[in-house]
Amino acid sequence: MRTAVVTGAGGSLGRAIAQRLAADGCALALTDLPGDALDETAALVRSHGAQVIAAPLDLTDDAELDTFFTRVADELAPVTTLVNNAAIYPTVAFLEMPVEKYDEVHRVNQRGYWRCAQLAGRQMLDPAVADEQRTMVNIASITMHGGWADLAAYVATKGAATSLTRALARELGPQGIRVNAVSPGAFPTAAEEIYDDPEAYSRQVIERQSLKRRGTPAELAAVVSFLTGPDSAFVTGQTIEVNGGWVMT
Ligand SMILES: NC(=O)c1ccc[n+]([C@@H]2O[C@H](COP(=O)([O-])OP(=O)(O)OC[C@H]3O[C@@H](n4cnc5c(N)ncnc54)[C@H](O)[C@@H]3O)[C@@H](O)[C@H]2O)c1
Repeated sequence: MRTAVVTGAGGSLGRAIAQRLAADGCALALTDLPGDALDETAALVRSHGAQVIAAPLDLTDDAELDTFFTRVADELAPVTTLVNNAAIYPTVAFLEMPVEKYDEVHRVNQRGYWRCAQLAGRQMLDPAVADEQRTMVNIASITMHGGWADLAAYVATKGAATSLTRALARELGPQGIRVNAVSPGAFPTAAEEIYDDPEAYSRQVIERQSLKRRGTPAELAAVVSFLTGPDSAFVTGQTIEVNGGWVMT
């Protein structure tokens, strides 16, 4: 059985990813900041019959993160699969943004991905983990292609997520670990509350996409399922765009 860590599992896309990996037969180790959202995801995942650990933590806290990964190995099994999904996206004009705010974004979206990959990667080398099960997926963002006003720190971390993906795919491939990224377009999630008029934003999204409807979190999760499963056994270092044909690379 695979053991998958999903960060940000209380969020819209993290929840869909956790549910899909449970349906794929994974045991799940879920994290998010403390709150009801994580518990709700854990309950949904349990309804798939999956074994679940739900650990509320701040992934910028090194000690909490270390304890979590140790607990996963002890209570479930060594990690086979990591989905780096947690992120923050404060909207602040670049020229006004305090450097402390930038540091926060960096600590969650970039340093957090790096450290989770390191802790998960070490466990993936456990002899109990089959070569073909060793996978990481980093969630990037369409914003890294064209930029996005008032989100410079976030956009920069998302570009970094794809660079980290390639670097880790190169370094860890010889040990059988595959590392890929998924770059979501705009999904109708709570994240859209950052816009003054979410309905107008939704119309703009559909105008820009080639496919004339909004995507669903389940459609994003399906691509994560592919990249963490056996059908992508020869795929590593890639970023798959899931955006209804908004940006084509
Ligand atoms: N929703 C979209 O349309 C969209 C588009 C492009 C990229 N993405 C990316 O997809 C991923 C998920 O986005 P979402 O829309 O589900 O966002 P979301 O805000 O619903 O989920 C993110 C989760 O990360 C958690 N988190 C934040 N800081 C944390 C910390 N310090 N420690 C632990 N957990 C923390 C939040 O509590 C939240 O539950 C993110 O990486 C985001 O950048 C989303």
